[in-house]
Amino acid sequence: MKKITLDYTNIQDAVLLSELSGKLESYSEIRNMIINKTGKGNDFLGWVDLPDRISDQEIEEIEALGKRIREESDLLVVIGIGGSYLGAKAAIDALLPAFKKSGEGIEIVFAGQSLSPRYLKSLLAHMEGRRVTVNVISKSGTTTEPAVAFRIIREWMIAKYGKEEGCRRIIATTDSSKGALRTLADEEGMKTYVIPDDVGGRFSVLTPVGLVPIAAAGISIKDLVQGARDGAAQYRDEADVTKNPSAVYAAIRNILYKKGKTTEILSNFEPQLHYVAEWWKQLYGESEGKENKGIFPASCDFTTDLHSMGQWIQEGLRNIFETFINVEDSGVKILLGREEKDLDKLNYLEGETLEFVNRQAFLGTASAHRDGGVPNMTINLPDISAYSIGKLFYFFEWGVAVSGYMLGVNPFDQPGVESYKKNMFALLGKPGLEKETQAIREKLAGNKLIV
Ligand code: PA5
Repeated sequence: MKKITLDYTNIQDAVLLSELSGKLESYSEIRNMIINKTGKGNDFLGWVDLPDRISDQEIEEIEALGKRIREESDLLVVIGIGGSYLGAKAAIDALLPAFKKSGEGIEIVFAGQSLSPRYLKSLLAHMEGRRVTVNVISKSGTTTEPAVAFRIIREWMIAKYGKEEGCRRIIATTDSSKGALRTLADEEGMKTYVIPDDVGGRFSVLTPVGLVPIAAAGISIKDLVQGARDGAAQYRDEADVTKNPSAVYAAIRNILYKKGKTTEILSNFEPQLHYVAEWWKQLYGESEGKENKGIFPASCDFTTDLHSMGQWIQEGLRNIFETFINVEDSGVKILLGREEKDLDKLNYLEGETLEFVNRQAFLGTASAHRDGGVPNMTINLPDISAYSIGKLFYFFEWGVAVSGYMLGVNPFDQPGVESYKKNMFALLGKPGLEKETQAIREKLAGNKLIV
């Protein structure tokens, strides 16, 4: 079985091993709180057993749907935001080739993850002349960004295909009974999938929220779920914390945070993992950033960002630590050859693989950052396969639950995300919010400082 390991050699200038074992003493209690559902936010712990709860029959059914979508579409438009978007985007970007020849297989695009009119206009133009299926995803069924995008895209689908075929080509993933999307989907006879009540958005990648688009992309969700199952066995079921990289990761973060390392940078050397980091940012930011506490999750794609953010990381304010994702086997062998004139002076690398060069860049960076006062750890990911990505999802989910409880917050709520919505609805003049509308308009009109 391919294992994810955590190398924490490079934290030793900042963290004593005795401090780490001290922190790990609380693990057994925290583990029991998660498993026995006795901690804060215990009504949102459905993700803990999710990989075991998904039946093989459900997986087969979703894979069959994915196949059908691929057969009858050139384009799948996935509408959703936050937890209803990032997991699928992360897996698809990581696992599909970075470039495709046009016309080669289905293309998966996303909508409803912003309110940008320019983005939507381009997307609608891109949909022209293609066979389109839509998967609209919203647990609440009322989130403004996907609701606005869906209103416009649904109109487009009905104009193109007619009501019956247009609705047949729309799959709605939402609550089992509540919300505007559920009502509309039922009324218009759309195929629906349910997001379990006890699974929050950012933990929902292993529900139909993530599985339907990932399967439609042609990725094996069987392997993805198997990776998560084995991840659950290795992190959730492993009581011996010294053998549990996910728990050790959580403990080290908390020690570093207490020492003023308030920003964590998740860095990769494989740009296709960019959205895995975006997914991770939501998972960790939304779970821990509350009660005026929490590590700020940031991310870098290396070596690209070493030429932009590298200076800051090496010598800027020392309030950061870093977690690298090191892909042990890229699965690609590109050999460097010899050139007669050697104008670029690269002949000394003759016979080496690009993977070797990339690995030395990673090792050199981790060491330089340690020397520069940036403690760092490395998550060794065996490869970029559906299995390993599924396992990585569970690694981070288990890690954030442990880390959030170590920090003393409820890792499963997100009260803060409502504030901008309240203001936005008031500014939009939503019926029923007349008082709030007047108050915020007056507030924004006063005390202007514009140069
Ligand atoms: O983690 C969360 O709860 C959020 O990011 C939600 O997933 C996001 O706001 C989308 O919500 P919904 O699925 O209800 O449209």
